[in-house]
Amino acid sequence: MKGSICSLLALAVTSVLLTASPGDCSTESPERTFYAVLGQSVTLRCPGNLSVPILRLYLQMQRGQKDYFINGFARDKSLPVTEYLNRTEVNEMDLSITMSNISFSDEGPYTCIVFYTEGSKEVHLISLNVTATYSVPNVTADCIHGQVTRGKKCQLSCSSTGGYPESEVKWPGLHLHLNESDNKTTSLQDPHSKTWTINQNVTYYCDQPTNVSCSIGHAVSHTITICQADSFPLRVNVAIAFVVTFVLFLILVLVLMKCHHRRPRPNPEDPALGFPLALRTAET
Ligand SMILES: *[C@@H]1O[C@H](CO)[C@@H](O)[C@H](O)[C@H]1NC(C)=O
Ligand SMILES: *[C@@H]1O[C@H](CO)[C@@H](O)[C@H](O)[C@H]1NC(C)=O
Ligand SMILES: *[C@@H]1O[C@H](CO)[C@@H](O)[C@H](O)[C@H]1NC(C)=O
Ligand SMILES: *[C@@H]1O[C@H](CO)[C@@H](O)[C@H](O)[C@H]1NC(C)=O
Ligand SMILES: *[C@@H]1O[C@H](CO)[C@@H](O)[C@H](O)[C@H]1NC(C)=O
Ligand SMILES: *[C@@H]1O[C@H](CO)[C@@H](O)[C@H](O)[C@H]1NC(C)=O
Ligand SMILES: *[C@@H]1O[C@H](CO)[C@@H](O)[C@H](O)[C@H]1NC(C)=O
Ligand SMILES: *[C@@H]1O[C@H](CO)[C@@H](O)[C@H](O)[C@H]1NC(C)=O
Repeated sequence: MKGSICSLLALAVTSVLLTASPGDCSTESPERTFYAVLGQSVTLRCPGNLSVPILRLYLQMQRGQKDYFINGFARDKSLPVTEYLNRTEVNEMDLSITMSNISFSDEGPYTCIVFYTEGSKEVHLISLNVTATYSVPNVTADCIHGQVTRGKKCQLSCSSTGGYPESEVKWPGLHLHLNESDNKTTSLQDPHSKTWTINQNVTYYCDQPTNVSCSIGHAVSHTITICQADSFPLRVNVAIAFVVTFVLFLILVLVLMKCHHRRPRPNPEDPALGFPLALRTAET
């Protein structure tokens, strides 16, 4: 805690020392947005004039009223790079700074200041937008014969996790009769990672076989076929009926064989072959 306060203080001090307030000789450029994915890296490029000798480059993060120095280079002094030393890499050739292991706290506005050797300077505003990619959504369908005249009613479910920002569920190609009582969405944000888990259940009334997939963010699920005439449960029923019939048939065959076995086996060497049998028939 103490250490982090100290480093914050050091940062504030260095940023005050280093912050270049836009003076008369500086030009301010319109904002540019860079996009980064959570945990990955991003290269922030400052649009300076590379054909003019450059004395210094500062990348600063604007948070509230303060500017915090991130990294950069200076040909006339050494720069106090602390917190971002391990996470940033400066490329002097193209005035870019690569930041790795991006977190949501890196999101927001930055300024990039280019000092030219001949005395002028430029302030460029850039902003960093952090997103996280949603997992490939799981799509499931649970179809039952409904009260609706033509047949089935399907309960479709789509879920995905680990994304940012919060996103809507889309069912491309499906004409849903969106009905609030049938349409339930839950969006949960993980308080620690800040990423979202989205789940939506919708009811679809079948009219013809349809291939469906759902999408959340840029992630698209695999495709499933719903509303088939010969639905999966029906096929299972047929299979079960077939197996049961087969087992019954087997039992019948076994019983018949047992009955046949119990009868005294006619001995081919018996000279009186056929006689006891004839006697038995006479008895019964
Ligand atoms: C860069 O500086 C050179 C020399 O001053 C100038 O001729 C050129 O127009 C500048 N380029 C841009 C894009 O400002
Ligand atoms: C940077 O990484 C080195 C080892 O790779 C570590 O000793 C040092 O504490 C790290 N510095 C910061 C500011 O995280
Ligand atoms: C990336 O940053 C997170 C915190 O934001 C940290 O827990 C993790 O160890 C870092 N990973 C690497 C490879 O530095
Ligand atoms: C990041 O970009 C997305 C998509 O362009 C946008 O919806 C979102 O508001 C942006 N976030 C910030 C903090 O600028
Ligand atoms: C998707 O399904 C897999 C396997 O059944 C499971 O491990 C994963 O947690 C599911 N993802 C979501 C977002 O429900
Ligand atoms: C929405 O669903 C309820 C029952 O599920 C039904 O009574 C109502 O008519 C439906 N509304 C529309 C606009 O389809
Ligand atoms: C959606 O349906 C699944 C089961 O298919 C259930 O576990 C989940 O809680 C439902 N979600 C909502 C938002 O109703
Ligand atoms: C669904 O997809 C399968 C295979 O991808 C295809 O054979 C079938 O014709 C499609 N059905 C419909 C209704 O588009």
